[in-house]
Amino acid sequence: MSNYHIKHLEEYFQVYRKSVRNPEAFWEEVAEEHFFWRKRWDSVLEWDFTKPEIKWFDGAQLNITENCIDRHLRSRGDKTAILFEPNDPKEEAQHITYHDLHERVCKFANVLKDQGVKKGDRVVIYLPMIPELAVSVLACARIGAIHSVVFAGFSSTALATRINDCEAKIVITSDGSFRGNKTIDLKGIVDEALKQCPGIGSVLVAKRTGAKIDMMEGRDHWLQPLLDKAYADCVPEIMEAEDPLFILYTSGSTGRPKGMMHTTAGYMVYTAYTFKNAFQYREDDIYWCTADIGWITGHSYIVYGPLVNGATTVMFEGVPSYPDFGRFWEVVEKHKVTQFYTAPTAIRALAKENLDFVTKYDLSSLKVLGTVGEPINEEAWHWYNDHVGDKKCPIVDTWWQTETGGILISPIPFSTPTKPTYATLPMPGVQPALMDENGKEIKGNQVDGRLCIKFPWPSIARTIWGDHQRYKDTYFSAFEGKYFTGDGALRDEVGYYRITGRVDDVIIVSGHNLGTAPIEDAINEHPAVAESAIVGFPHDVKGNALYGYVILKETGESRDRDNLKKEINQMITEHIGPIAKLDKIQFVPGLPKTRSGKIMRRILRKIASKETDNLGDISTLLNPEVVEQIIEESL
Ligand code: WTA
Repeated sequence: MSNYHIKHLEEYFQVYRKSVRNPEAFWEEVAEEHFFWRKRWDSVLEWDFTKPEIKWFDGAQLNITENCIDRHLRSRGDKTAILFEPNDPKEEAQHITYHDLHERVCKFANVLKDQGVKKGDRVVIYLPMIPELAVSVLACARIGAIHSVVFAGFSSTALATRINDCEAKIVITSDGSFRGNKTIDLKGIVDEALKQCPGIGSVLVAKRTGAKIDMMEGRDHWLQPLLDKAYADCVPEIMEAEDPLFILYTSGSTGRPKGMMHTTAGYMVYTAYTFKNAFQYREDDIYWCTADIGWITGHSYIVYGPLVNGATTVMFEGVPSYPDFGRFWEVVEKHKVTQFYTAPTAIRALAKENLDFVTKYDLSSLKVLGTVGEPINEEAWHWYNDHVGDKKCPIVDTWWQTETGGILISPIPFSTPTKPTYATLPMPGVQPALMDENGKEIKGNQVDGRLCIKFPWPSIARTIWGDHQRYKDTYFSAFEGKYFTGDGALRDEVGYYRITGRVDDVIIVSGHNLGTAPIEDAINEHPAVAESAIVGFPHDVKGNALYGYVILKETGESRDRDNLKKEINQMITEHIGPIAKLDKIQFVPGLPKTRSGKIMRRILRKIASKETDNLGDISTLLNPEVVEQIIEESL
């Protein structure tokens, strides 16, 4: 069926035109032919971006795990669903078949039920990349509980904020995690977080590292004995199309993270469709996405998209540098990976190392390479193309967001000619628009502007958990009647899109979205700090790194500056996690401000990037004299 699996460029244009001319007919056709529904929908789409309210396949009933697992049992029961590659290459990989997955998910679902978890309850999952992570996500979906996975690199404070924001009643974690040659005490972080979370009645603990941990009587339970006793079948909860499937937090421009809420039917249809097309997935492929399931990429393209298609999806516990910088390629050779999907920051880090780490492995199984998370620079693109893909594998530069649920702009491999640094063309059903500062759409090619989407696609987030007003303000207020992405983009002479980066207060460091406000809040809690401002500056591996400008209180002035810098980064590690640490910290006497008291980040960004020739007009600032001094002492 050509709608579902595009095979050449002309077909893409045909399908795209059809999808835009009549989106409802287009998505209805996709939904009818490739999924298992308990009840058909009454209407395909109802929407109003001014409220905003979006409903796809309203009236339909389904359970996404029946689509991910049960319906494959007859034809693919013994096929590997999840191929788990442990951190330590000496530990054997696990092939979890669709039959195994069914049993593991059902047992886990029954354990959750025994713990009192019901449809609509929130379950926070704080696990490393071990099979229990995917299994617990699916177990929640099986019984209609709403999962909220928190990336296991987040600190106890960040974890507590998320648990409390979604009012979860249970946390799933492990005794610890392996990352390269380190072990991390995850349970200790959970214990610390739970001091601030009165709503949590129970904690399920998977065993991974065997580290000695504290178990709180009555609250904490080892998972395995409960699974051993659980019944191996669990009738799926019948869900409405628009019932919530999960909440996933992303950074915003204020201190509170945004709990993006995704619903069931539209998310399923869109992630399955885009997985099939963006990776040209075929039945016997071995697909590997190196992301963590704690991010949206892992939700959509390790778990749901691949499993709905009956694919084999690799889950990797480790890091690209352990035991050495050849690990990715060793795993590709070992499992004969056909599609490989990673982040530009990983490519840049590996490109710095000796080429022998790549060339000593047989990478001939690869067919398609993907990237996601931030703009890929030309040099990294070519390195990936030349040395990993041997110039034979199309690179799909996939642009999308936590909010979009699935890939919105990407080449279709073997159909769309690729162009370095360009995400190229919209997926079928996706209608991008570039807007100018006055809110007018910029038509034609060879233009740039702010990237909006004019029409809903099935996996758009439906709200911010508990704060619909913020959802409206953040995404639907800047440009009337359109979804605003927060990114800038240009459209070249043939209509290809290139994403140029964030135009708001979010900075992408190593592919992780970081809001400036939460980092500033963390720093300002240091007793010696009066005020701070964070900006990004270019970094050759991370894409962007963080530069902090800090004003000390009088009490801090006499303190040792190096110690203060360490303490500031420690504050950030405790409040957010090590991913948000600052590369550079400059102590300043003041921050450039407008007359209304707003920090002029544009100027600070230029100083951090050493582009001080053209600062623009600073005479209207409240304190222009401070700029000169900041430049003189800049790092
Ligand atoms: C950025 C990740 C350029 C962008 C799936 C977006 C990209 C943010 C690309 C979302 C890409 C993602 N090229 N920039 N291919 N992919 N981005 O929510 O700024 O973690 O808004 O979702 O990452 O990050 P998030």
